[in-house]
Amino acid sequence: MSQFDLVVIGTGPGGYVCAIKAAQLGLKVAVVEKRATHGGTCLNIGCIPSKAMLHTSELFEEAAEHFEDFGIKVGKPKLDLKAMMGHKQKTIDGNVSGIEFLFKKNKVTPFHGTGRILAAGRVEVTAEDGSKQEIEAKSIVIATGSDVAPLPGVEIDEKQIVSSTGALELDKVPGKLVVVGAGVIGLELGSVWRRLGSEVTVVEFMDKILGPMDADISRNFQRILKKQGVEFHLSSKVTAVEKTGKQLAVTVEPAAGGEAAAKTLEADVVLVAIGRRPYTSGLGLEEVGVALDERGRVKTDGHYQTTVPGIYAIGDVIVGPMLAHKAEDEGVALAEMLAGQAGHVNYGVIPGVVYTSPEVAEVGKSEEALKAEGISYKVGKFAFIANGRAKATNHTEGFVKVLADAETDKVLGVHIIGHGAGEMIHEAAVLMEFGGSAEDLARTCHAHPTMSEAVKEAAMAAFAKPIHA
Ligand code: FAD
Ligand code: NAI
Repeated sequence: MSQFDLVVIGTGPGGYVCAIKAAQLGLKVAVVEKRATHGGTCLNIGCIPSKAMLHTSELFEEAAEHFEDFGIKVGKPKLDLKAMMGHKQKTIDGNVSGIEFLFKKNKVTPFHGTGRILAAGRVEVTAEDGSKQEIEAKSIVIATGSDVAPLPGVEIDEKQIVSSTGALELDKVPGKLVVVGAGVIGLELGSVWRRLGSEVTVVEFMDKILGPMDADISRNFQRILKKQGVEFHLSSKVTAVEKTGKQLAVTVEPAAGGEAAAKTLEADVVLVAIGRRPYTSGLGLEEVGVALDERGRVKTDGHYQTTVPGIYAIGDVIVGPMLAHKAEDEGVALAEMLAGQAGHVNYGVIPGVVYTSPEVAEVGKSEEALKAEGISYKVGKFAFIANGRAKATNHTEGFVKVLADAETDKVLGVHIIGHGAGEMIHEAAVLMEFGGSAEDLARTCHAHPTMSEAVKEAAMAAFAKPIHA
């Protein structure tokens, strides 16, 4: 029987990072993964392939719609979807093989198969051919991630009715795409297919898109997407999808109910993107006494320990935003704790990015959250239309919004819609990690001409007055 200090079940961003960090800190580490390749949802069917498709579809639209604005005449670009998918696959392959390399480099022992916890300290691995082996380890980490949340009554076949996985694999551009859920997946993948030529209609249960995001950002971003041609049915729900040959009939009702007000939308493909749920199936958690919460997430304490000593959990399978970087940071923190160090994740400063065009990024609190908490705040805003670099590159859409404490000037939240927002947000994150103020941000010299100058100007607007507005 193989003996280790630590065995990690699942090699997504949570699991692989935890394993590597623990090995770097001197622990003898094994990982168990049931997929053929490491990297989990993120590298295989999530973050990485979606960003490859977002990038290539953005280039396609740039060439088709915007090159002429800059005096570049290349004619109408032709889509080679197979080659585009080839780039996506090459990106996945490069990333997942990178993890294999890092495991070797850090002497992490990989086991391929499905892991099941037999007891604290014991994990059984069942390979695809049914053969079993047992691993012993002082600590076990559950990093099994999440899976697509189903829409009751609508069966996903990954061809016509797809989840994000099928939406990243379509072999032709759907004429009409109906997206259920105006969350991150719906808007990112809806954007991909719209740019490639689909008519996209989004049906959302709530009265706003991107649910928990700042309402000002949500409202403005919806306007931008509408201008791009995305149709929205808010406060609505899909109650049925009927297949009639190659066509789909999608029944949409008001969220509050009411068959009388039902509408039917035609679609070639329906993308179900109504959230993800923690994945714990087959782990044997009930038998060993690892408790789940009311939403099926593994319950953990402040040190990521489950209700069974020696068994820990991190990432999508526990409470918190289902984000790769949140899972990674928990992986590092837990590895440090297991190695006798102090690990810590600051949940108040986890950036969120929607990789559409323009991008949407946020860190810290929204105005709604500050109001709900009774915190008095000031708002500094700066629009990219007044930014020189944005003008030069035709990326003038969107704005930066800085929320700072009314009394102390401490930055409490930063929200950006704009080209490159996902990169710009990190200066706000670093500032907030150090408890910085709007004045700190406003007085930090920013290179000219950059989009980031809008972040500085928004901070100036919160603390005094911007120069360029
Ligand atoms: P996962 O990545 O889900 O990995 C869990 C691993 O455990 C899987 O490989 C699974 O096969 C394995 N496993 C499960 N059970 C067992 C078992 N019993 N035995 C062995 N192995 C097992 N997040 C971002 O931050 N940025 C993005 O841009 C982004 N884009 C996304 C796009 C899409 C389309 C999707 C679906 C998700 C996206 N996410 C993004 C979310 C991100 O993928 C997840 O938050 C992240 O993957 C969670 O990491 P994890 O390690 O907790 O779990
Ligand atoms: P989500 O939670 O972001 O959005 C789901 C949306 O569907 C919500 O707006 C919800 O109100 C709506 N909804 C729920 N039930 C509905 C119904 N019956 N009819 C209509 N609308 C309904 O979930 P999503 O987009 O599926 O993404 C899952 C997870 O993956 C997210 O937690 C996200 O964090 C992560 N992710 C992150 C990305 C990023 O960081 N860029 C990219 C893609 C995914």
